[in-house]
Amino acid sequence: MDVAVAPNATPLQGSKECDVVIIGAAIAGISTAYELALGGSRVIVVDRGKIAGGITARTTAHLAPLCDDLTSAMISFRGEEMSRLFYESQAAAVDRIEEIQKRESIDCDFRRLDGYLFQALNTDSKIIEDELEAVRKIGAPVDRLVGIPLAHCGQQHALRYTRQGTFHPLRYLKGLVAAIEAKSGSFHSDTVVEGFEERDDGKVIITAGSRTITARAAVVATNAPIVDRFALHTKMAPYRTYAMAFSIPKGAILDALYWDTLDPYHYVRLQPGDGRTDFLIVGGGDHKSGEADDAEVRFQALEAWTRNLIPAAQNVTHRWSGQVLDTIDYAGFIGRNPGSNKIYVHTGDSGQGMTHGVVGAMINSALILGRETKWADVYEPSRKTPAAIGNFLRENVTAVKNFAEYLAPGELADVSDLKAGHGAIIRQGTSKIAAYRDPSGALYARSAACTHVGCHLHWNSFETCWDCPCHGSHFAIDGTPLNAPAIGPLAEEHQAGTTP
Ligand SMILES: Cc1cc2nc3c(=O)[nH]c(=O)nc-3n(C[C@H](O)[C@H](O)[C@H](O)COP(=O)(O)OP(=O)(O)OC[C@H]3O[C@@H](n4cnc5c(N)ncnc54)[C@H](O)[C@@H]3O)c2cc1C
Ligand code: FES
Repeated sequence: MDVAVAPNATPLQGSKECDVVIIGAAIAGISTAYELALGGSRVIVVDRGKIAGGITARTTAHLAPLCDDLTSAMISFRGEEMSRLFYESQAAAVDRIEEIQKRESIDCDFRRLDGYLFQALNTDSKIIEDELEAVRKIGAPVDRLVGIPLAHCGQQHALRYTRQGTFHPLRYLKGLVAAIEAKSGSFHSDTVVEGFEERDDGKVIITAGSRTITARAAVVATNAPIVDRFALHTKMAPYRTYAMAFSIPKGAILDALYWDTLDPYHYVRLQPGDGRTDFLIVGGGDHKSGEADDAEVRFQALEAWTRNLIPAAQNVTHRWSGQVLDTIDYAGFIGRNPGSNKIYVHTGDSGQGMTHGVVGAMINSALILGRETKWADVYEPSRKTPAAIGNFLRENVTAVKNFAEYLAPGELADVSDLKAGHGAIIRQGTSKIAAYRDPSGALYARSAACTHVGCHLHWNSFETCWDCPCHGSHFAIDGTPLNAPAIGPLAEEHQAGTTP
C-alpha cells in the first residue's frame, strides 16, 4: 500500500475522447489498458480513489493457476474440457506477467516457485487423492508427495505444483502504468464513474458528475461491476479474508507457495525483505462478508496456526483484511456485459484475482481489438451453470435473510447509547440508521440501506467501515462508498450532534 502506483494521476476535467475507457485502475483495469495500448488503442483509465488503492492493494499475490476451490469441484460444475481451459488460461497469465515484467524491466520481485497443496493437520488425506486425479485429468503438471517442509507436516500428504509464481503487485502495476503512459495512455484518480450510455453511433459515454469520456468501448473493471444491478451479482458472493505478515529470518522456510486443504484454507508465502529478514505472509479465516465481526479472534487463530507450522515466524508486522468475490462455478465473468454492445466487464475473480486480472486483460483486449481468443467461453458473463445450482441457491439466501433484518430491532435503543469508537445499527421509526461515534465523541449517522439495491449494512469494527453482505459494497463512516458495486454515498440521517 505504500507504493504510489501513478503519482501523476489527477481527477478528470471536462470532456475527453479515446478509443477505450477503462473504469477501475488495479490489476484487472491496468492490465487491460496495457494490452490495449500495446495493440495501438488510446486508453484512459479512471478510478474513484487513488490508482490501485482497491482490493489489489490488499492481495497476498500468489500466482497459482489451479482452481483455488479445487479442480475436482470445478470439474463437477464445468466438466473436464472447460476446467482444462481454465487452468491453461490461468497458467498463461503467469507467463504473461513474467514476460511483461521482463520486457518492461519492472523490479517487482517476480519469481517462479513451487506450490504445495497439503493435507491439513488432523484431517483425512482423501481430498489429496481426489485432487490428484482431477489435476491429472486436466493435464496440469503435479507431483504426489508425503511430507512438506513445514513443522508437524512430515507425514502430511501433499501435491506439488511446479511453475507457480509470486510478485509485488503494486510495484508491477507501477511499471505497467509507466509503460501505458509512454504509449499516450492516461490515468485519472478521484473520479467516480456514475453512468454509462451506449449511443446509436456505436460510441459509449461514461459520466462522472458533469465530466464525460466518449469512447469506442468501455471496460468495467471495478472488482464488483457497477454497470449491472442483478445479472452478475446473483451469480457470485463476497467473502472477507484476513492476512497478516510476520518477520522471518531469510532461509528459515523454503520459498514456495503453501495452502492447506481446510475450507476456508490457509495460504502462505514469503516476500523478500531488507537485511536478514523476509516477510512471511499468511492468510485465511474467511467468512461471508458482513456475517462476522470478530477479526481479533480470526487473527489469533491465524497466528496460532502459523506459529505451530512455522516456529521461525517472529513478530507480527502487519494485519489487514479484504474481500474476494466467489462465483458459483469458480471462474470469473469476463467479456461483453450481458445486454451491452460496447461495454465489457471483468469480475468474480475469487482468491485468484491476480491471474484472473491478467486473463481478463487478454480476453477483453482481444474481443475489443477483434482478435482470436480461445478462453472466452470459460469466462462468458452470460453463461449458465446448471450443475452449480446448489451454490446459486445457497449464496442468494443471504439477500433474502438480509432484507428480513429490516424488521428486527436495532442493536442499540438510541444513539445516546453508542460509545466512542463504536458503530451500531439503530432503529428510528420504520428505518434503520448506521451510526458511528468517533474517538472524540462526534456522531456519524447514515442510512443503513446500501445504495446498490438496498440491503441492510453490517458494522466492521476492524476496518471501521460498513459492509454489505449481499454483493460486497463497503462504506466509510461518513457514508462514502469504498468498494463497488455501490456508486452513491449513504443518505445522511439527522440526529442531534451528527457530523455531516
Ligand atoms: C487478503 C487477500 C488476499 C488475496 N490473495 C490473493 C492471491 O494470493 N492471489 C490472487 O490471485 N488473488 C488474491 N486475492 C484476490 C485479488 O487480490 C483480487 O481479486 C484482485 O486484486 C481484484 O482486482 P480488481 O482489479 O478486479 O479490483 P480492485 O483492486 O478492487 O480494483 C477495482 C478498482 O475500481 C475502482 N472503482 C470502483 N467503483 C468505481 C467507480 N464507480 N468509478 C471509478 N472507479 C471505481 C476502485 O476504486 C478500485 O481501485 C486476494 C484478496 C485479498 C483481499
Ligand atoms: S452491494 Fe448490492 S445491495 Fe449492497
